[in-house]
Amino acid sequence: MSNKDGKILILPGDGIGPEVNKALLRLINSVNNHTFYNLDIEEGLIGGASYDKFKLPITDKVLEKANNADAVILGSVGGPKYDSLPFNLKPERGLLKLRKELDLYANIRPAKAFNALKEASSLKSEIIKGMDIIVLRELTGGIYFGEPRGIEDLDDGQRRGINTEVYTTNEIVRLAKVGFEIAMERKGLVHSVEKANVMESGILWREEVKKLHETKFSNITLLNMYADNCAMQLVKNPSQFDVIITGNLFGDILSDISAELTGSLGMLPSASLGDKINDRRKSLYEPVHGSAPDIAGKNIANPIAMIMSFSMMLEHSFYDQTTSKVIEKSVENVLENGFRTKDICQDDTKEVSTSDMGELICEEFKSLSKNI
Ligand code: IPM
Ligand code: MG
Repeated sequence: MSNKDGKILILPGDGIGPEVNKALLRLINSVNNHTFYNLDIEEGLIGGASYDKFKLPITDKVLEKANNADAVILGSVGGPKYDSLPFNLKPERGLLKLRKELDLYANIRPAKAFNALKEASSLKSEIIKGMDIIVLRELTGGIYFGEPRGIEDLDDGQRRGINTEVYTTNEIVRLAKVGFEIAMERKGLVHSVEKANVMESGILWREEVKKLHETKFSNITLLNMYADNCAMQLVKNPSQFDVIITGNLFGDILSDISAELTGSLGMLPSASLGDKINDRRKSLYEPVHGSAPDIAGKNIANPIAMIMSFSMMLEHSFYDQTTSKVIEKSVENVLENGFRTKDICQDDTKEVSTSDMGELICEEFKSLSKNI
Protein backbone atom coordinates (compact mmCIF):
# COMPACT_ATOMS: atom_id res chain seq x y z
CA MET A 1 0.00 0.00 0.00
CA SER A 2 1.40 3.40 -0.90
CA ASN A 3 2.38 5.99 1.63
CA LYS A 4 0.01 8.91 2.01
CA ASP A 5 1.92 12.05 2.95
CA GLY A 6 -0.04 15.12 3.87
CA LYS A 7 0.29 18.49 5.53
CA ILE A 8 -2.59 19.39 7.83
CA LEU A 9 -3.15 22.74 9.47
CA ILE A 10 -5.11 22.52 12.73
CA LEU A 11 -6.80 25.62 14.13
CA PRO A 12 -8.17 24.68 17.58
CA GLY A 13 -9.80 28.11 18.09
CA ASP A 14 -11.86 29.01 21.17
CA GLY A 15 -14.04 27.47 23.87
CA ILE A 16 -14.08 23.68 23.70
CA GLY A 17 -12.01 23.77 20.45
CA PRO A 18 -8.62 23.16 22.12
CA GLU A 19 -9.80 20.20 24.25
CA VAL A 20 -11.62 18.37 21.43
CA ASN A 21 -8.51 19.03 19.37
CA LYS A 22 -6.36 17.17 21.92
CA ALA A 23 -8.54 14.11 21.45
CA LEU A 24 -8.14 14.43 17.69
CA LEU A 25 -4.35 14.76 17.91
CA ARG A 26 -4.23 11.42 19.70
CA LEU A 27 -6.24 9.81 16.94
CA ILE A 28 -4.06 11.32 14.20
CA ASN A 29 -1.07 9.88 16.03
CA SER A 30 -2.69 6.43 15.92
CA VAL A 31 -3.51 6.87 12.23
CA ASN A 32 0.14 7.73 11.54
CA ASN A 33 1.38 4.76 13.60
CA HIS A 34 -1.06 2.12 12.43
CA THR A 35 -1.78 2.90 8.78
CA PHE A 36 0.07 4.02 5.68
CA TYR A 37 -0.44 7.72 6.48
CA ASN A 38 2.30 10.14 7.29
CA LEU A 39 0.41 13.27 8.27
CA ASP A 40 2.40 16.29 9.23
CA ILE A 41 0.55 18.53 11.70
CA GLU A 42 0.96 22.23 12.20
CA GLU A 43 -1.18 24.31 14.56
CA GLY A 44 -2.30 27.92 14.21
CA LEU A 45 -4.52 30.48 15.90
CA ILE A 46 -7.96 31.67 14.82
CA GLY A 47 -10.86 33.55 16.38
CA GLY A 48 -10.55 34.89 19.91
CA ALA A 49 -7.32 32.94 20.45
CA SER A 50 -5.75 34.83 17.55
CA TYR A 51 -7.21 38.13 18.75
CA ASP A 52 -5.71 37.62 22.22
CA LYS A 53 -2.23 37.30 20.74
CA PHE A 54 -2.28 39.41 17.56
CA LYS A 55 -5.34 41.67 17.96
CA LEU A 56 -6.72 40.09 14.77
CA PRO A 57 -9.20 37.16 14.38
CA ILE A 58 -6.88 35.63 11.76
CA THR A 59 -3.42 36.69 10.53
CA ASP A 60 -2.06 36.68 6.97
CA LYS A 61 0.48 34.10 8.10
CA VAL A 62 -2.26 31.65 9.10
CA LEU A 63 -4.13 32.34 5.84
CA GLU A 64 -0.95 31.56 3.92
CA LYS A 65 -0.42 28.33 5.86
CA ALA A 66 -4.04 27.37 5.17
CA ASN A 67 -3.48 28.01 1.48
CA ASN A 68 -0.45 25.73 1.44
CA ALA A 69 -1.92 22.89 3.52
CA ASP A 70 -3.50 19.76 2.02
CA ALA A 71 -6.41 20.30 4.40
CA VAL A 72 -7.38 22.51 7.32
CA ILE A 73 -9.32 21.41 10.40
CA LEU A 74 -10.88 23.85 12.84
CA GLY A 75 -12.32 23.41 16.35
CA SER A 76 -14.66 26.34 16.97
CA VAL A 77 -14.59 30.12 17.28
CA GLY A 78 -16.28 32.69 19.50
CA GLY A 79 -17.19 33.36 23.11
CA PRO A 80 -18.80 36.02 25.35
CA LYS A 81 -15.37 37.51 26.13
CA TYR A 82 -15.27 38.88 22.57
CA ASP A 83 -18.90 40.09 22.30
CA SER A 84 -18.04 43.76 22.64
CA LEU A 85 -15.24 43.80 20.03
CA PRO A 86 -15.79 45.87 16.88
CA PHE A 87 -17.53 43.87 14.13
CA ASN A 88 -14.38 43.35 12.04
CA LEU A 89 -12.37 41.96 14.93
CA LYS A 90 -14.94 39.46 16.20
CA PRO A 91 -13.79 35.80 16.21
CA GLU A 92 -16.38 34.84 13.55
CA ARG A 93 -14.76 37.23 11.06
CA GLY A 94 -11.63 35.05 11.13
CA LEU A 95 -13.63 32.02 10.06
CA LEU A 96 -15.55 33.93 7.38
CA LYS A 97 -12.29 35.34 5.98
CA LEU A 98 -10.75 31.87 5.85
CA ARG A 99 -13.79 30.46 3.97
CA LYS A 100 -13.75 33.38 1.53
CA GLU A 101 -9.97 33.50 0.91
CA LEU A 102 -9.80 29.78 0.18
CA ASP A 103 -12.99 30.04 -1.91
CA LEU A 104 -14.61 27.17 0.00
CA TYR A 105 -18.01 27.50 -1.61
CA ALA A 106 -19.46 24.03 -1.02
CA ASN A 107 -20.33 23.29 2.59
CA ILE A 108 -21.40 19.69 3.19
CA ARG A 109 -23.30 19.13 6.44
CA PRO A 110 -24.50 15.57 6.95
CA ALA A 111 -27.27 14.88 9.46
CA LYS A 112 -27.61 11.19 10.10
CA ALA A 113 -28.89 9.78 13.34
CA PHE A 114 -26.53 7.33 15.04
CA ASN A 115 -28.30 4.09 15.85
CA ALA A 116 -27.11 4.15 19.47
CA LEU A 117 -28.63 7.59 19.93
CA LYS A 118 -32.02 7.25 18.30
CA GLU A 119 -33.84 8.10 21.54
CA ALA A 120 -31.88 11.34 21.94
CA SER A 121 -33.71 13.37 19.27
CA SER A 122 -36.31 15.95 20.25
CA LEU A 123 -38.61 14.22 17.72
CA LYS A 124 -40.27 10.85 18.21
CA SER A 125 -37.91 8.05 17.18
CA GLU A 126 -40.33 6.78 14.49
CA ILE A 127 -40.15 10.19 12.76
CA ILE A 128 -36.35 10.34 12.61
CA LYS A 129 -36.04 6.66 11.70
CA GLY A 130 -34.18 6.37 8.39
CA MET A 131 -33.24 10.04 8.36
CA ASP A 132 -30.03 10.61 6.40
CA ILE A 133 -29.70 14.13 5.01
CA ILE A 134 -26.94 16.19 3.48
CA VAL A 135 -27.42 19.93 3.59
CA LEU A 136 -25.19 21.41 0.91
CA ARG A 137 -24.88 25.09 1.77
CA GLU A 138 -23.36 27.73 -0.50
CA LEU A 139 -20.67 29.26 1.72
CA THR A 140 -18.90 32.17 0.06
CA GLY A 141 -21.71 34.24 -1.43
CA GLY A 142 -25.24 35.41 -0.76
CA ILE A 143 -26.15 37.83 1.97
CA TYR A 144 -23.09 36.91 4.06
CA PHE A 145 -20.81 38.70 1.61
CA GLY A 146 -23.09 40.74 -0.69
CA GLU A 147 -22.52 44.46 -1.28
CA PRO A 148 -23.72 47.04 -0.41
CA ARG A 149 -23.58 46.34 3.29
CA GLY A 150 -23.14 48.44 6.38
CA ILE A 151 -24.88 50.70 8.85
CA GLU A 152 -25.49 54.29 7.77
CA ASP A 153 -26.82 57.44 9.38
CA LEU A 154 -29.99 58.95 7.93
CA ASP A 155 -30.76 62.67 7.80
CA ASP A 156 -33.67 62.34 10.21
CA GLY A 157 -31.44 60.89 12.93
CA GLN A 158 -32.39 57.26 12.31
CA ARG A 159 -29.88 54.64 11.20
CA ARG A 160 -30.20 52.03 8.46
CA GLY A 161 -28.62 48.55 8.41
CA ILE A 162 -28.06 47.04 4.95
CA ASN A 163 -27.13 43.59 3.66
CA THR A 164 -27.59 42.30 0.15
CA GLU A 165 -28.63 38.87 -1.03
CA VAL A 166 -26.88 38.39 -4.37
CA TYR A 167 -26.06 35.32 -6.47
CA THR A 168 -24.54 34.98 -9.94
CA THR A 169 -25.05 32.14 -12.44
CA ASN A 170 -21.58 30.71 -11.76
CA GLU A 171 -22.01 30.70 -8.00
CA ILE A 172 -25.30 28.84 -8.30
CA VAL A 173 -24.17 26.39 -10.94
CA ARG A 174 -20.91 25.31 -9.27
CA LEU A 175 -22.75 24.62 -6.01
CA ALA A 176 -25.63 22.79 -7.69
CA LYS A 177 -23.14 20.61 -9.60
CA VAL A 178 -21.59 19.42 -6.34
CA GLY A 179 -25.10 18.73 -5.02
CA PHE A 180 -26.12 16.61 -8.03
CA GLU A 181 -22.82 14.71 -7.86
CA ILE A 182 -23.33 13.92 -4.18
CA ALA A 183 -26.92 12.80 -4.88
CA MET A 184 -25.68 10.49 -7.62
CA GLU A 185 -23.75 8.48 -4.99
CA ARG A 186 -26.81 8.44 -2.70
CA LYS A 187 -30.57 8.16 -3.30
CA GLY A 188 -30.53 10.44 -6.34
CA LEU A 189 -32.85 13.10 -4.92
CA VAL A 190 -32.12 16.84 -4.69
CA HIS A 191 -34.30 19.49 -3.05
CA SER A 192 -33.32 22.96 -4.23
CA VAL A 193 -34.35 25.47 -1.58
CA GLU A 194 -34.90 29.26 -1.95
CA LYS A 195 -37.61 31.92 -1.68
CA ALA A 196 -38.42 32.36 -5.38
CA ASN A 197 -41.87 33.58 -4.32
CA VAL A 198 -40.39 36.81 -2.90
CA MET A 199 -36.75 37.18 -4.00
CA GLU A 200 -35.29 37.68 -7.48
CA SER A 201 -32.08 35.95 -6.38
CA GLY A 202 -34.32 32.97 -5.60
CA ILE A 203 -35.91 33.08 -9.07
CA LEU A 204 -32.45 33.04 -10.65
CA TRP A 205 -31.38 30.21 -8.33
CA ARG A 206 -34.36 28.10 -9.39
CA GLU A 207 -33.85 28.79 -13.12
CA GLU A 208 -30.12 28.04 -13.11
CA VAL A 209 -30.52 24.82 -11.11
CA LYS A 210 -33.28 23.70 -13.49
CA LYS A 211 -31.07 24.39 -16.55
CA LEU A 212 -28.14 22.44 -15.12
CA HIS A 213 -30.46 19.60 -14.18
CA GLU A 214 -31.93 19.36 -17.68
CA THR A 215 -28.58 19.50 -19.45
CA LYS A 216 -26.36 17.33 -17.22
CA PHE A 217 -28.21 15.60 -14.39
CA SER A 218 -31.65 14.59 -15.67
CA ASN A 219 -31.21 11.14 -14.05
CA ILE A 220 -31.49 12.83 -10.62
CA THR A 221 -34.89 13.78 -9.20
CA LEU A 222 -35.03 17.54 -8.63
CA LEU A 223 -37.68 19.14 -6.41
CA ASN A 224 -37.97 22.85 -5.61
CA MET A 225 -39.03 23.95 -2.14
CA TYR A 226 -39.42 27.31 -0.43
CA ALA A 227 -37.10 27.73 2.55
CA ASP A 228 -39.88 28.25 5.10
CA ASN A 229 -41.69 25.12 3.93
CA CYS A 230 -38.39 23.22 4.04
CA ALA A 231 -37.89 24.19 7.70
CA MET A 232 -41.39 22.87 8.45
CA GLN A 233 -40.96 19.68 6.40
CA LEU A 234 -37.65 18.95 8.16
CA VAL A 235 -39.36 18.67 11.52
CA LYS A 236 -42.48 17.00 10.10
CA ASN A 237 -40.97 14.30 7.92
CA PRO A 238 -37.15 14.48 7.68
CA SER A 239 -36.75 11.16 5.87
CA GLN A 240 -38.29 12.62 2.68
CA PHE A 241 -34.94 14.42 2.09
CA ASP A 242 -31.69 13.17 0.60
CA VAL A 243 -29.62 16.18 -0.53
CA ILE A 244 -30.73 19.78 0.10
CA ILE A 245 -28.96 22.48 -1.90
CA THR A 246 -29.39 26.04 -0.76
CA GLY A 247 -27.81 29.48 -0.31
CA ASN A 248 -25.64 30.68 2.55
CA LEU A 249 -28.21 32.08 4.99
CA PHE A 250 -30.94 29.48 4.48
CA GLY A 251 -28.26 26.80 4.70
CA ASP A 252 -27.03 28.20 8.01
CA ILE A 253 -30.53 27.88 9.48
CA LEU A 254 -31.64 24.62 7.86
CA SER A 255 -28.40 22.84 8.78
CA ASP A 256 -28.89 23.76 12.44
CA ILE A 257 -32.42 22.33 12.33
CA SER A 258 -31.33 19.10 10.67
CA ALA A 259 -28.36 18.75 13.04
CA GLU A 260 -30.57 19.10 16.09
CA LEU A 261 -32.97 16.45 14.74
CA THR A 262 -30.26 13.83 15.13
CA GLY A 263 -30.16 14.59 18.87
CA SER A 264 -26.40 14.66 18.68
CA LEU A 265 -25.14 18.07 17.71
CA GLY A 266 -21.85 17.22 19.44
CA MET A 267 -21.20 14.48 16.90
CA LEU A 268 -21.80 16.13 13.53
CA PRO A 269 -18.93 17.07 11.24
CA SER A 270 -18.83 19.29 8.16
CA ALA A 271 -16.64 19.83 5.13
CA SER A 272 -16.15 23.03 3.16
CA LEU A 273 -14.66 22.44 -0.26
CA GLY A 274 -13.28 24.50 -3.11
CA ASP A 275 -12.76 23.47 -6.72
CA LYS A 276 -10.75 20.36 -7.47
CA ILE A 277 -7.62 21.24 -9.42
CA ASN A 278 -5.30 18.34 -10.41
CA ASP A 279 -6.85 16.11 -7.78
CA ARG A 280 -6.17 18.66 -5.04
CA ARG A 281 -8.77 20.90 -3.53
CA LYS A 282 -8.77 23.52 -0.81
CA SER A 283 -10.71 22.18 2.14
CA LEU A 284 -11.71 23.05 5.68
CA TYR A 285 -13.30 20.62 8.13
CA GLU A 286 -15.20 21.72 11.21
CA PRO A 287 -17.59 20.32 13.79
CA VAL A 288 -21.11 21.74 13.39
CA HIS A 289 -21.23 22.61 17.11
CA GLY A 290 -20.10 25.98 18.42
CA SER A 291 -17.48 26.91 21.01
CA ALA A 292 -19.76 26.05 24.00
CA PRO A 293 -18.04 28.50 26.38
CA ASP A 294 -20.22 27.34 29.31
CA ILE A 295 -18.52 23.94 29.38
CA ALA A 296 -15.08 24.89 28.05
CA GLY A 297 -12.03 23.68 29.99
CA LYS A 298 -14.00 21.09 32.00
CA ASN A 299 -13.00 18.04 29.98
CA ILE A 300 -16.68 17.14 29.41
CA ALA A 301 -17.16 18.25 25.77
CA ASN A 302 -17.91 15.68 23.10
CA PRO A 303 -14.86 15.19 20.80
CA ILE A 304 -16.78 13.03 18.29
CA ALA A 305 -17.71 15.85 15.86
CA MET A 306 -14.04 16.83 15.64
CA ILE A 307 -13.02 13.20 15.08
CA MET A 308 -15.76 12.73 12.47
CA SER A 309 -14.57 15.93 10.75
CA PHE A 310 -11.15 14.32 10.41
CA SER A 311 -12.83 11.22 8.99
CA MET A 312 -14.52 13.46 6.38
CA MET A 313 -11.09 14.91 5.61
CA LEU A 314 -9.68 11.50 4.75
CA GLU A 315 -12.64 10.92 2.44
CA HIS A 316 -12.76 14.28 0.63
CA SER A 317 -9.15 15.50 0.68
CA PHE A 318 -7.27 12.17 0.59
CA TYR A 319 -9.92 10.22 -1.38
CA ASP A 320 -9.70 7.39 1.14
CA GLN A 321 -13.07 5.91 2.06
CA THR A 322 -11.53 2.90 3.78
CA THR A 323 -9.74 4.59 6.67
CA SER A 324 -12.57 7.11 6.93
CA LYS A 325 -15.06 4.25 7.42
CA VAL A 326 -12.82 2.59 10.01
CA ILE A 327 -12.86 5.80 12.07
CA GLU A 328 -16.67 5.98 11.79
CA LYS A 329 -16.94 2.36 12.83
CA SER A 330 -14.63 2.95 15.80
CA VAL A 331 -16.93 5.75 16.99
CA GLU A 332 -20.03 3.60 16.48
CA ASN A 333 -18.53 0.69 18.41
CA VAL A 334 -17.56 2.87 21.37
CA LEU A 335 -21.15 4.21 21.47
CA GLU A 336 -22.62 0.71 21.10
CA ASN A 337 -20.46 -0.33 24.06
CA GLY A 338 -22.35 2.25 26.13
CA PHE A 339 -19.74 5.00 26.55
CA ARG A 340 -21.02 8.58 26.33
CA THR A 341 -19.85 12.10 27.02
CA LYS A 342 -22.15 14.15 29.27
CA ASP A 343 -24.15 15.75 26.41
CA ILE A 344 -25.45 12.38 25.13
CA CYS A 345 -25.44 10.37 28.36
CA GLN A 346 -28.58 8.41 29.28
CA ASP A 347 -29.56 6.34 32.33
CA ASP A 348 -28.17 3.05 31.12
CA THR A 349 -24.90 4.40 29.70
CA LYS A 350 -21.50 5.19 31.17
CA GLU A 351 -20.35 8.82 31.31
CA VAL A 352 -16.76 9.47 30.26
CA SER A 353 -14.65 12.63 29.87
CA THR A 354 -13.49 14.25 26.62
CA SER A 355 -10.03 12.73 26.92
CA ASP A 356 -11.36 9.27 27.87
CA MET A 357 -13.73 9.28 24.88
CA GLY A 358 -10.77 10.20 22.65
CA GLU A 359 -8.71 7.37 24.16
CA LEU A 360 -11.51 4.80 23.74
CA ILE A 361 -11.94 5.72 20.06
CA CYS A 362 -8.15 5.46 19.54
CA GLU A 363 -8.03 2.00 21.12
CA GLU A 364 -10.94 0.84 18.96
CA PHE A 365 -9.26 2.32 15.89
CA LYS A 366 -6.01 0.52 16.67
CA SER A 367 -7.77 -2.82 16.81
CA LEU A 368 -9.95 -2.22 13.70
CA SER A 369 -7.08 -0.78 11.62
CA LYS A 370 -5.40 -4.17 11.58
CA ASN A 371 -7.80 -4.91 8.71
CA ILE A 372 -6.84 -1.89 6.59
C1 IPM B 1 -21.89 28.17 11.03
C2 IPM B 1 -21.81 29.32 12.01
C3 IPM B 1 -21.13 30.48 11.32
C4 IPM B 1 -22.00 30.95 10.19
C5 IPM B 1 -20.73 31.64 12.25
C6 IPM B 1 -19.90 31.17 13.43
C7 IPM B 1 -20.02 32.74 11.50
O1 IPM B 1 -23.09 29.63 12.47
O2 IPM B 1 -20.82 27.72 10.57
O3 IPM B 1 -22.99 27.72 10.74
O4 IPM B 1 -22.96 31.71 10.39
O5 IPM B 1 -21.73 30.55 9.05
MG1 MG C 1 -24.62 28.28 11.84
